Amino acid sequence: MRTIIEPFKIKVVEPIRMTTREEREKILLAAHYNPFLIHAKDVLIDLLTDSGTAAMSSKQWAGVMDGDESYAGSKSFYRFERVVKELTGFHSIIPTHQGRAAEKILFHIAIRTNGSAQQIIPNNTHFDTTRANIEYVGAKAIDLPIEEGKKPSLRRPFKGNMDLEKLENLIREEGASKIPLIMVTITNNSNGGQPVSMENLKGARDIAHRHKIPFFLDAARFAENAYFIKLREAGYENKSVEAIAQEIFRLADGCTMSAKKDGLANMGGFLGLNDRHWAQKARALLILTEGFPTYGGLSGRDLEALAQGFKEVLEEDYLRYRIRSIEYFGEKILALGVPIVEPPGGHAIYMDAKAFLPHIPPLEYPGQALVNELYLVAGIRAVEIGSVMFGKVDPKTGQEKSAEMELVRLAFPRRVYTQSHVDYLVEAMEEVVKHKKKLRGFRMVAQEPSLRHFTAHFEPL
Ligand code: F0G
Repeated sequence: MRTIIEPFKIKVVEPIRMTTREEREKILLAAHYNPFLIHAKDVLIDLLTDSGTAAMSSKQWAGVMDGDESYAGSKSFYRFERVVKELTGFHSIIPTHQGRAAEKILFHIAIRTNGSAQQIIPNNTHFDTTRANIEYVGAKAIDLPIEEGKKPSLRRPFKGNMDLEKLENLIREEGASKIPLIMVTITNNSNGGQPVSMENLKGARDIAHRHKIPFFLDAARFAENAYFIKLREAGYENKSVEAIAQEIFRLADGCTMSAKKDGLANMGGFLGLNDRHWAQKARALLILTEGFPTYGGLSGRDLEALAQGFKEVLEEDYLRYRIRSIEYFGEKILALGVPIVEPPGGHAIYMDAKAFLPHIPPLEYPGQALVNELYLVAGIRAVEIGSVMFGKVDPKTGQEKSAEMELVRLAFPRRVYTQSHVDYLVEAMEEVVKHKKKLRGFRMVAQEPSLRHFTAHFEPL
C-alpha cells in the first residue's frame, strides 16, 4: 500500500472551535498582531510549537493513574530512570521539569566564572534558551553550522551538521581550557529542524576527546534524528531506530533533554551525566531549584508518561507517519511555489518569507506578515523566526539590524493532527499564494529588551 496511515486510533477528542474571518480580524487586532498573544481557544490548527503539545497514548494515560507521588524514592522515578539509562547509557539521570532547567544546571556547574578568560560553548546551532543560559553565566555561545546548512533551498541529507573544521580552528585559536564542553543539537531546531549524521557526531566527539573536552548532546529530538540516519546514512538502513539512538547517546559524555518533544509528554526533561563529580554538584543544585533527585520538578505521573513515551517514540511506524506527514505538507506547498527550507525537517516546515514576499523589506517583518495572514485566512498559528525574534536594536544608535533569515516555522505537535488537517493547511497556503503581492509589512510599536517576540505589539503598515 502506498498510503501511510496514522498508526493509531483516536480514543479521546478535543473539539476545535470554528471561527470566521471577521472574528479572526478582531482577535488579531486585540492581540496586537502578535499570535503569541492569541488565546489558544481561538486557534483552529496550532503549529506554534511541537513542544509539550503531543497527544499521549492510552498506555501513557494508564501510567498517569499509576504514578507514585512519593517525595523520595518514587517507583515512577525508578521506572523512568531504567528506561532512560537503557536508552542513553549515562551513569546519572537527573530529572528536571523541562529542558532549560537541565541547561541551567549544566552550565552552572560546567562554566568557570571567576578569574579565568571568558569561556566558550560551541554548538552546531544553539537553541535560544541554551544560548541564553550560557550568556547568563557570562560565557559565550558560538554557532558552527555547516555552510550548506545556511542555504534554505539546497537539498542535502544532513544540513544540521556541525562544521568540524571551524570547530578545530576555534579550539586551536582559543585553547581547549576555555571550552568547558562541546555541544551538538539533534535535530538542529534553529537551523530548520535538520538532522545531524552519525559521521558528524562521531567527528565532533573525536575532536572533543582529542582535546580532553567533554562532548554533550542537546537531545530534544533524538528519535527524529535517529530515524533520518536510518533513512539517509549508509550502513544504518538495517539497524533499528532504537539501536541508532543508543549508539548516538553512547558517543556523548552527557546530554540535556527537553522531553516535551520526543518524550511524547506534555512536561519534562533531564540532565544525563557520566561524570560522577558533576552529577553530585548537579543534584545539589537540583534540590535548590527543582526538587529532590527522584522527582526533580516533575510529578510521579509525569515520570510514568515519559518512561512510556521514550519507548513509543522509537516505534518505526510512528516515525514513518511523523516524518512523512511533514514531508507531505512540504512537498504540497513547494508545488504551490512557496519556498521552504529543504529538505523538510523532522518536526516542522520552515517557510522562507524573505524569498516568498520579496516586496516586504526585512525590517518590515515579512515573516510576521505571513504569520498574521495565515491566521486571518484559516485560523492557523505559526511562528516568525526572523527579524522579530532575532533582530537587534543597537542601544547606542537605536538602529535595528535584521536577522540573517526571515523564516516562518510551522511546527507539528506529535500525534495530534490528521491528514485532513494537513490538507486544510495546504489549502490555506493556496489562498495566501493567490494574493501574496497584497500583503503588507508591520511596524513594532512596543517591545521588551530581551526575547521581545513573545510580547511585542505591532501595527500594520
Ligand atoms: N533545546 C532545543 C533544541 C529546543 O528546541 C528546546 C525547546 C529546548 C532546548 C528547551 O527546552 O522548552 O523544555 O525548556 N524548544 C521549543 C520550541 C520551545 O518551540 O522549539 P524546554
